[in-house]
Amino acid sequence: MEMDQLVALCKRRGFLFQSSEIYGGLQGFWDYGPMGVELKRNVREAWWRDMVTGHNELVIPPGAPSVFEMVGLDCAIIMHPQVWKVSGHYDLFHDFMQSCRQCKKLMRADHVGEMLRESEWVASLGTALQIGPTEHHLVVDGGALMKWAKTKGRKAAPGLALVRNPEVTLSWLAERVATNPGQPLGIGELLSYVATEQLNQTGLQMPCPHCGGDLTEPREFNLMFESNTGAVRDESSKVFLRPETAQGIFVNFKNVLDSTRVGIPFGIAQIGKSFRNEITPRNFTFRSREFEQMEIEFFCHPGQSLAWYKYWRDRRYKWYTDLGLAGERLRLRDHTPDELSHYSVGTADIEYAFPFLAAGEFGELEGVAHRGDFDLRSHMEGKLVHEDPSDKKSPLVVEKDAEGKPRHRGSGKDMNYFDDQTKQRFIPHVIEPSAGADRATLAFLCEAYTEDEVPDETGKAAKRVSLKLHPRLAPVKAAVFPLVKKDGMPEVAQEIYAALKPFMNVFYDEKGAVGRRYRRQDEVGTPYCITVDGDTLKDGTVTIRDRDSLKQWRTKKEDVVAEIRERLR
Ligand code: GAP
Repeated sequence: MEMDQLVALCKRRGFLFQSSEIYGGLQGFWDYGPMGVELKRNVREAWWRDMVTGHNELVIPPGAPSVFEMVGLDCAIIMHPQVWKVSGHYDLFHDFMQSCRQCKKLMRADHVGEMLRESEWVASLGTALQIGPTEHHLVVDGGALMKWAKTKGRKAAPGLALVRNPEVTLSWLAERVATNPGQPLGIGELLSYVATEQLNQTGLQMPCPHCGGDLTEPREFNLMFESNTGAVRDESSKVFLRPETAQGIFVNFKNVLDSTRVGIPFGIAQIGKSFRNEITPRNFTFRSREFEQMEIEFFCHPGQSLAWYKYWRDRRYKWYTDLGLAGERLRLRDHTPDELSHYSVGTADIEYAFPFLAAGEFGELEGVAHRGDFDLRSHMEGKLVHEDPSDKKSPLVVEKDAEGKPRHRGSGKDMNYFDDQTKQRFIPHVIEPSAGADRATLAFLCEAYTEDEVPDETGKAAKRVSLKLHPRLAPVKAAVFPLVKKDGMPEVAQEIYAALKPFMNVFYDEKGAVGRRYRRQDEVGTPYCITVDGDTLKDGTVTIRDRDSLKQWRTKKEDVVAEIRERLR
């Protein structure tokens, strides 16, 4: 499946629209349409039910070290700014960005390579030179390069050094080939040469994926969106939109302990919007600036934390496979020791091979991290300041610790847990399964997209697009059609529709050829279609059609509700 096909289906059938589309759209923001909103709600509800309300704390879950409870929270998006200083987001939540000196576009430094692989001007240059993206060359056709620079290159890559000053750029390239005749030139090196005009002064340059121009040095950029509270807009009123939901859970740890009967081990779950000012939002909803997270902070005894980490890693992976992401496109990747933070004994990513990625590449759906006592301890004691605080014009108090090191002030609240039975006092360790609702929704859509051939009304094979979504996730569970809009068929169909409605999202459609109505429901992933026809009026039975097998069978109309409910279970 090509990503463009899924994007087109999402628009055509009302799953996803670009935000503010009538004004040209706003990059990194998406609106869920009537089908999308149901699908994403089903993803969220499946997660909440399977992780929180459906979790039965009286039964020891298979593989778990002991009995545990799960509770929920719904925290404010804007929190006290000190939260983000102590969490490390204020000092460390950076990406490196580069901008193009010619077209002024900004991009994430670590995305430039991938963007170049997808760039139109690079593809055009490759066609002119008849070289593929992974090939290495001993000989470079200078004539073809010059011709491209003076024709297609002018429009495709006006900022490229080769286009602006072909003679100089080609002379550097010729020198490289002449001085290292036995060393093949890879596409990456070739692109650097065609982007470089002043080799002696600048060294080899990386071209801009948009126009070929030269890129600035990477510089740091904090990803948190800023706003102000109250009428006065100055440093003292500055606040941030949360970049993760997790911190709301940590700062409420004591409130939950004091207001409920939960005891260690237990988990707090939250679903909610997070915001990151991504430099290069891309790949549909995969990297957005506003997105939804489904996060659990699981608090446990330090001595049991490794066992709990393994438990959550496996349980979360199984959640995706149970909902249809089985197969080689889904994988669980343990981080290598050098990828781990100093406080962590394990982190694993659950990843999916999204179709917009190059072959063999995977994108993160969820991270399951062992966070030790890092977060609770930081909110209790404060945190060392990463950079010189005087640069930041900080409105907040930065204290010095006993060694004179600057430190963001913690809350001072005691985050220790007292175990009544063992009489032990300790700061719990935390396991954090952190998932993205939008990424999960996108992965379910990608996995479900299917093209096959089925006979049309005339018996000829015709292409069919369907979404083979798990019935729990399908936006509409059943559609009811009268075969024709007469002879009392609509009345019977409407009765069935009304009987199903209290139990599920059901759709009624009486317009157009029935074949086309089936196709429409296949495209939005409706598992069952129920058709009232001439026989219904004679024997009281209706046809039920299965989206995936295309099998059709007859059932008494009064049994339809029970049968569909049973099949969806
Ligand atoms: N509290 C930990 C945390 O926030 P993260 O890996 O930065 O960890 C967790 O984010 C999940 O949130 C990711 O695995 C992804 O599913 C989702 N996510 C993160 N940034 C996103 C973005 N820009 N757009 C869509 N989803 C995103």
